[in-house]
Amino acid sequence: DWTMGAYREEAIRKIRDQVGDRKVICGLSGGVDSSVAAVLIHEAIGDQLTCVFVDHGLLRLNEAEEVVGMFRDNYNIPLIHADESDLFLGELEGIADPEQKRKTIGRLFIDVFQKHANDIDGAEFLAQGTLYPDVIESVSFSGGPSVTIKSHHNVGGLPEKMGLKLVEPLRELFKDEVRALGRELGLPDSFIGRHPFPGPGLAIRCPGEITRDKLDILRKADAVYIDQIRKHGLYDEIWQAFVAILPVRTVGVMGDYRTYDYACALRAVTSVDGMTADYYPFSHEFLGETATRIINEVQGINRVTYDVTSKPPGTIEWE
Ligand code: XMP
Repeated sequence: DWTMGAYREEAIRKIRDQVGDRKVICGLSGGVDSSVAAVLIHEAIGDQLTCVFVDHGLLRLNEAEEVVGMFRDNYNIPLIHADESDLFLGELEGIADPEQKRKTIGRLFIDVFQKHANDIDGAEFLAQGTLYPDVIESVSFSGGPSVTIKSHHNVGGLPEKMGLKLVEPLRELFKDEVRALGRELGLPDSFIGRHPFPGPGLAIRCPGEITRDKLDILRKADAVYIDQIRKHGLYDEIWQAFVAILPVRTVGVMGDYRTYDYACALRAVTSVDGMTADYYPFSHEFLGETATRIINEVQGINRVTYDVTSKPPGTIEWE
């Protein structure tokens, strides 16, 4: 795409102008936005960029390995992999309130990021994959009074706290443009097309208290669900799909036995920018087959429901 080719050249020139020969750190989440930002900046300034990937223990099945593998092996971008899952899961123990969860994760993230960033001598810039919709959403909400629905996890106060200047090369782009730019930069299609994943990760898909046990069950169920969606060729039609594990156990029967296990909810929505969304109209066959697979393949779940709420009035995530 020639327009993205031109955008890429222009963006690289701007990054070089802004940064000169100084150092940049970039928080990598494994999502499309921060990944595209990192690859673009790496192309502009090479090893002046170091990425920090904070693993908070709330990622999907095999996600940390995939992200770290891709950046180290394919791009050779200097990368610090900070496995801090014990810290995050420890601090989250016993917390059930959604806002308190988000704030705890946000606070720890800043501490951890700062700790690792301090190891990078003389960094002066912080790179972020902020998009145009992030810029507008934080300014106003449908023109009405500014209401905080959810405390968004981003590294908001970080630049000032660390005395860093921001590099935000995607600030003028919408999601589909970021994907086009990512393709232009040679990121694999499988990666570019990935559904968005929230900063607080699986924490907000596990309403109520988080335990390692629930997270393990959730990861397995989510992997089966996404596998089903891919096998039916529906992945690219859907903006976002995931499983939420519910804080309730229900009675079931498996062979000759009574079971008492968790219920889960499947979520899938279509959307243009995440601001509004419609639930995805799966066929009954698809839903039935998926429920059967999850219950047979994932120990700990014996009931599957489908969330048919659109946004508004629902939000995409459960917390
Ligand atoms: P909601 O649940 O508010 O989500 O309808 C809208 C979109 O934003 C994602 N989301 C987040 N992304 N940090 C993020 O980076 C967050 O704290 C966060 N909370 C929600 C959500 O996955 C959906 O794509």
